[in-house]
Amino acid sequence: MTTAPERIETARLVLRRPRREDAEAIFARYASDREVLRYVSWPVHTSIAWTHAFLSFSDEQWARWPAGPYLLFSRAGETLVGGTGLAFDAPERASTGYVLAKDAWGQGYATEALGAMVDLAPTLGVRRLYALCHVDHRPSARVLEKGGFTLEGILRGYCEFPNLEPPDPGDVRCYVRVLPPAPPQDPTPSQV
Ligand SMILES: CC(C)(COP(=O)(O)OP(=O)(O)OC[C@H]1O[C@@H](n2cnc3c(N)ncnc32)[C@H](O)[C@@H]1OP(=O)(O)O)[C@@H](O)C(=O)NCCC(=O)NCCS
Repeated sequence: MTTAPERIETARLVLRRPRREDAEAIFARYASDREVLRYVSWPVHTSIAWTHAFLSFSDEQWARWPAGPYLLFSRAGETLVGGTGLAFDAPERASTGYVLAKDAWGQGYATEALGAMVDLAPTLGVRRLYALCHVDHRPSARVLEKGGFTLEGILRGYCEFPNLEPPDPGDVRCYVRVLPPAPPQDPTPSQV
């Protein structure tokens, strides 16, 4: 199994596998912010124990699959700006998403992070990369369109949005990008 690099650099961001010591920054920057999490499918972290549980989940994903969650840091200030990652359903099928601290919105960071996931995924054998977003979430849909994703359809009652008041029907847009197969590896000496 090819494993993803734990650190990736883009023009303005560093993407890095989460570590235990990131808990407080994740909690403070976005995971406890109800406004940021309005349209995500996981509940607001009401205590840092939730953030530790996320970090355990992240380690499990990285142990089981070629990649998992990444944190996003600005290269300029080394500040934590958010998170992204690949969530595998199968070796060739994964979903992606992004969440940014409020002060990092509107600067193209989600588009830049998505581009990094699109570049990474085929190197790990992913052919179908998809993303789900709430039907009313225009900024997220726009990021996916800018990232070359195609709207495949609307999935009715697909998932719960635990931070929406009042409770919501859970309709999502499904966007997909089918990726080219990774180029064949050079044969190892034992295969020649
Ligand atoms: C959604 C989110 C990731 C977008 O991140 P971002 O870095 O601000 O996004 P970008 O700057 O890369 O692009 C946003 C695009 O949406 C557009 N946009 C913003 N508000 C919009 C609206 N109400 N309607 C339509 N388009 C909108 C912007 O103009 C921009 O498009 P443009 O470059 O063509 O002008 C960020 O707001 C966020 O983290 N929100 C909270 C968490 C979340 O909802 N995550 C997604 C769950 S599916």
